[in-house]
Amino acid sequence: MRMHPPSRPAATIPLADLRAQHQSLGPELQAAIDRVFAASDFVLGDEVAQFEAEFADYCGVGETIACANGTDALELALCAIGIGVGDEVITVANTFAATAEAIVRCGAVPRFVDVDPQTLLMDVSLLETAITPKTRAIIPVHLYGSCVDVAAVMAVAARHGIAVIEDAAQAQGASTRGKRAGATALAGCFSFYPGKNLGACGDAGAVVTSSPEVAARVRQARDHGRSGEKYKHDVVGRNSRMDGLQGAILRVKLRHLTAWNARRREIAQTYGALLRGVDVSIVAVPVASQPVYHQFVIRTAERDQLRQALAAHGIQTGIHYPIPLHQQPAFAPYLPPGGIELPVTEAAAASILSLPMFPELSDGDARAVGRAVAESRAAVSTAVA
Ligand SMILES: Cc1ncc(COP(=O)(O)O)c(C=O)c1O
Repeated sequence: MRMHPPSRPAATIPLADLRAQHQSLGPELQAAIDRVFAASDFVLGDEVAQFEAEFADYCGVGETIACANGTDALELALCAIGIGVGDEVITVANTFAATAEAIVRCGAVPRFVDVDPQTLLMDVSLLETAITPKTRAIIPVHLYGSCVDVAAVMAVAARHGIAVIEDAAQAQGASTRGKRAGATALAGCFSFYPGKNLGACGDAGAVVTSSPEVAARVRQARDHGRSGEKYKHDVVGRNSRMDGLQGAILRVKLRHLTAWNARRREIAQTYGALLRGVDVSIVAVPVASQPVYHQFVIRTAERDQLRQALAAHGIQTGIHYPIPLHQQPAFAPYLPPGGIELPVTEAAAASILSLPMFPELSDGDARAVGRAVAESRAAVSTAVA
């Protein structure tokens, strides 16, 4: 009997579908994997070095330093610019835990500012008042694949002699004011977690920078603090090297990233057209940003009912993120006594919903999602009235 690859049930539209991506890349990926086995270069090696060069080119930066994951990329970058005990780093609470984890792992304290009510990204107008004599860095997070106006962040930072590091984990290929995510600030940090717009087949990450000094420090720290001789360690480093297999796989996928991101924008347009006049709001993209829609996020006060209704249509949704970081037990020790309030972030967490978004999503399925949202909202509004 002939075996068929497992396929998803016809009625189900997932939030993301990695199997579809990997099926479409089958022979290309296999050839890349075979190359790594033939060379048996499993840690760093030629494929990783080539990926570093190609990704630096893609981002328009001097260098890429590949590492083990996006959390490490943030920590390596922060450590490379000397962030440590007694320092404060400003970021947002509407992000994945890793952003603040990296700050704490360096010995510093995260200071959370609220987000803009339209974009749900860092509200740059709040930075000036959040800066204290201990502030050493700001991390804008390009959440959902939309870029914060990094140039505006840097203008504030420059007045105070503070560094800016971009968390571009969700924004491979996005741009702000014509520059790719990660390319404007001193360094940009990427995750290549499998579900990202550019994802490995396992954990992987990278720091990009045009500063040769930052690049050299990150490169040394990711590989046990050595820079040349195998058993000479100049500083205390760590092991955060990218696997050869991930480097080879990322090189294949990087060649498709521009087309994949364009397809995500097409799907976003379809959703936008179908949701016009529907009683939900679409989270906005900053004016100067060309987004890559890692997530397509809508908002409604009846979020949980909408989510259930969509599930009944076989449509999977997500919440990015349900508990803001200033309300997470992990970060409570770093807040002032009694905690802090971030009203826009808190309201967002209660009302956001991410719709299915991946390049292989068909036009028919995208339309089915848009129509289901419209129908479900109409039904809820009738019930509420
Ligand atoms: C905004 C953001 N920052 C950092 C990270 C951390 O990346 P990783 O999971 O590769 O460590 C992620 C990954 O989900 C992320 O979404």
